[in-house]
Amino acid sequence: MTIYELLRRDHRHVDHLFKRIQKALDGRDLSEVPELFDELKVELTAHSKAEQEVFYQPLKVLAQSKEGEEYTWEGEEEHHVMRLLLNELSRLPFRSEEWAAKIKVLSEVVEHHVEEEEGPIFKEGKKVFSDEEAEKIADSMETLKEIYKTQVDQALSEDLALLQRPIEHQSYPNQL
Ligand SMILES: [Fe+2]
Ligand SMILES: [Fe+2]
Repeated sequence: MTIYELLRRDHRHVDHLFKRIQKALDGRDLSEVPELFDELKVELTAHSKAEQEVFYQPLKVLAQSKEGEEYTWEGEEEHHVMRLLLNELSRLPFRSEEWAAKIKVLSEVVEHHVEEEEGPIFKEGKKVFSDEEAEKIADSMETLKEIYKTQVDQALSEDLALLQRPIEHQSYPNQL
């Protein structure tokens, strides 16, 4: 299996989880929501962290086009936004309008992200990696993903680090 097939398979799985959560919210039967959200959180966190390390990192260095390189940087920021939303969703009661709105936004961020990943990012990857390399990257992805699945909360907390820093680049005067 190549990295592209593996990532596509994961993407369809996540899409399916979002649809099940949305269906449960629409039908106001929330009993399954906590379990589905936990699965989504583990899956999205482990997938995005492992994917960054085994696929995005080498692609950023080896990208042949400026556009391919920029999409990869942008994709990493989208991973970060997803994990910020997962952090917030994990801290909110799921029986709230805020939670329902936030999970919808997360699904939209993921949908947009997957479109660009399977489009221009895969295209760049196919220019850079041989078929054999694409299979080796898939093997590494599977191994690393299993490790991240056991460290989800720690992985998610890394995305909060920037928020601990003081705000910079203020363009307004300090005193009114
Ligand atoms: Fe992905
Ligand atoms: Fe991704």
